[in-house]
Amino acid sequence: MAIGVLTAGGDCPGLNAAIRAVVTRLVAADVEVIGVEQGWRGLMQGHTRRMSRDDVRGIVAKGGTVLGTSRIDPYVHGDGYPSIAATLSDTGIESLVVLGGDGSLKSGARLEADGGVRIVGIPKTIDNDIGGTDVSIGFHTAVQIVVDAVDRLTTTAESHNRIMVVEVMGRTAGWIAAASGLAGAAEAIVVPEVPTDYEALSERIQSRHSAGHDYSLIVVAEGSPAPSGEISTTGVDSYGFQRLGGVGYQVADELENRTGYETRVMVLGYLQRGGTPTAYDRLLGTRFGIEAAELALGGASGVMVGLRGNEIIPVDILEAVSSPRPLDLGLMEDAGWFFK
Ligand code: F6P
Repeated sequence: MAIGVLTAGGDCPGLNAAIRAVVTRLVAADVEVIGVEQGWRGLMQGHTRRMSRDDVRGIVAKGGTVLGTSRIDPYVHGDGYPSIAATLSDTGIESLVVLGGDGSLKSGARLEADGGVRIVGIPKTIDNDIGGTDVSIGFHTAVQIVVDAVDRLTTTAESHNRIMVVEVMGRTAGWIAAASGLAGAAEAIVVPEVPTDYEALSERIQSRHSAGHDYSLIVVAEGSPAPSGEISTTGVDSYGFQRLGGVGYQVADELENRTGYETRVMVLGYLQRGGTPTAYDRLLGTRFGIEAAELALGGASGVMVGLRGNEIIPVDILEAVSSPRPLDLGLMEDAGWFFK
């Protein structure tokens, strides 16, 4: 029997650490390892390659994924299990380690139910919105990238007595905004989970600037409603999925109109997903990868690895993806103490 490994959905730093760990642990058990290229697309179109220990040397510090990824989904762009069955039988893959976000992990669980391939999930997304784990691969690095940017943007905002609006990713979740806004000492954090009172915020900014604090840094999650209440999108991607973004400009207009202060916008976008993973994400990816490989070797199915406290544990994959991991509102409450 062979065990496959694939990365599906948006990439993030730390994926290669996990791939390296999965392959290394499986090869040590003398199991044939099949790397599936470009996510589910590789299984649907037969793009796979055998992997050895040498294939994963020197990649722990590299961003992205050496296997490639895509937003292709066998249920959205194919007919479910039958669209991957030929590749499974050609390669002998009986178990599949899926590094995915909630959409890819859900599809994995459905494929298992429909066809019997065993699935072991590894949660990865900068959005940090997967249930069943305290944190997902990629989140820590994304937050660090945002905080580095916020530190830099704060000094230029201060020189010009400006409001600087920083739009961050996260899809429908405010995790990146809340964590980076708190760590980066933002003057306000706008997230989908908590309504924003623009009148009160504008008054706060005015009294702050007139007291001599010559800048305000506002972090806005891309999935937050604009001041008009609308969700801002930039259309639909080539796979039919809605693309979020642009709310930062609407927040900036609102604040500039209300306060009279010059306002600038920085949309951090894909910077948050690129480059070197932090040591934390390398460790998390490595620990998740080894545990996932051991679960696959033991014949586990329908499980995902998760972090609880400092322990890596198996969790039921369906339970993990049944509802998104809610934002820890304690982060927003803590940030509130500094909004003065
Ligand atoms: O889910 C991860 C994420 O980076 C979101 O934060 C963002 O909205 C989305 O992916 C962007 O997706 P794509 O890479 O398809 O443009």
